[in-house]
Amino acid sequence: MRAIGVSEYSGPQALHEIDLPTEPLGPGQVRVRVRAAAVNPTDTYVVNGARNRSGVPREVADVPGMDIAGELLEVGPETQTDLAVGDAVMGVVVPTGQHGAYREDIVLPVGSVVRAPRDVSHAEAATLPMNGLTAQLALDKLALAPGEVVAVTGAAGALGGYVIPLAKRAGLTVVADAAEKDVELVRSFGADHVVPRGDDVADRIRDLFPDGVDGLVDGAVQGEKVLGAVKDDGGVATVRFWKGDGSRQLRFYPVLVAEVAERSDWLEELRELAEAGVLELRVADVVPAKDASQAHERLAAGGVRGRLVLDFA
Ligand SMILES: NC(=O)c1ccc[n+]([C@@H]2O[C@H](COP(=O)([O-])OP(=O)(O)OC[C@H]3O[C@@H](n4cnc5c(N)ncnc54)[C@H](OP(=O)(O)O)[C@@H]3O)[C@@H](O)[C@H]2O)c1
Repeated sequence: MRAIGVSEYSGPQALHEIDLPTEPLGPGQVRVRVRAAAVNPTDTYVVNGARNRSGVPREVADVPGMDIAGELLEVGPETQTDLAVGDAVMGVVVPTGQHGAYREDIVLPVGSVVRAPRDVSHAEAATLPMNGLTAQLALDKLALAPGEVVAVTGAAGALGGYVIPLAKRAGLTVVADAAEKDVELVRSFGADHVVPRGDDVADRIRDLFPDGVDGLVDGAVQGEKVLGAVKDDGGVATVRFWKGDGSRQLRFYPVLVAEVAERSDWLEELRELAEAGVLELRVADVVPAKDASQAHERLAAGGVRGRLVLDFA
């Protein structure tokens, strides 16, 4: 079975095709024939070795990837599901070792797999599960009330593109950052206010909300630089484990999507919202899986809008 992985941690060029055995199928699990796998920033951690805590090169490959779409191949024993073999599905993967999304055939917990939105390509479906769940989790942790204000950095990114419409749906006012070229894009997600991105983004947000915003989702990973945007006792959702610097009375919520990887109810909600046109599934490009290294180089260069997706057809 074909997969894409690394067996040394020397950057995107280390990604190559490998032949792996299929995974065994157990109770509570389903097997998916992967047709598309999204390329996410977090996949670079597997490729550059940050996930390999020992730092010692592995003899076997690591397979990155957290988002898949494809067809349901098989339902495990004693597995409750209304999914049927052949259904177009999407799923979220918590990668470990050779178990990552960049493989043709994957076994996942049934709670991590739902039907794909109807009338979308596998590539489009693959852009939704992981970042959609992360956006839901960030907003769930912030627990803002309708009418409150949330700020979103990195708003033009995949996460921002889901946080903003979900926040609007929850009745929040959204202030988001954007480079000049992305202002219309970020407005199209539903942002009420768009401010220029950059190191002074907190000041630009305070210009609009002098008392500070109630919550912040820091998709740009700007850390302490953006904290000034948030009012005292406000909430900050961080996406790379940061728990704050302790300098102010803010509530920090490190968001880890693995916590909700089996929330099939949330995945179903994401599917419905995509079908209703509330969430836009943005594909930057579809790249043959064997060219994963090029996709990673493009991601590292920045400026990609929408997700790069590996094609495992
Ligand atoms: N913890 C979790 O479970 C979890 C889950 C999902 C995502 N994440 C993390 O969340 C972050 C966002 O993910 P994503 O998929 O949305 O990434 P993305 O699609 O690459 O979007 C990131 C956006 O931030 C922009 N940006 C970069 N530096 C910036 C700055 N200094 N100021 C303002 N904007 C800036 C980027 O613009 P350019 O392209 O122009 O640089 C891009 O538009 C990533 O770090 C990812 O690893 C964490």
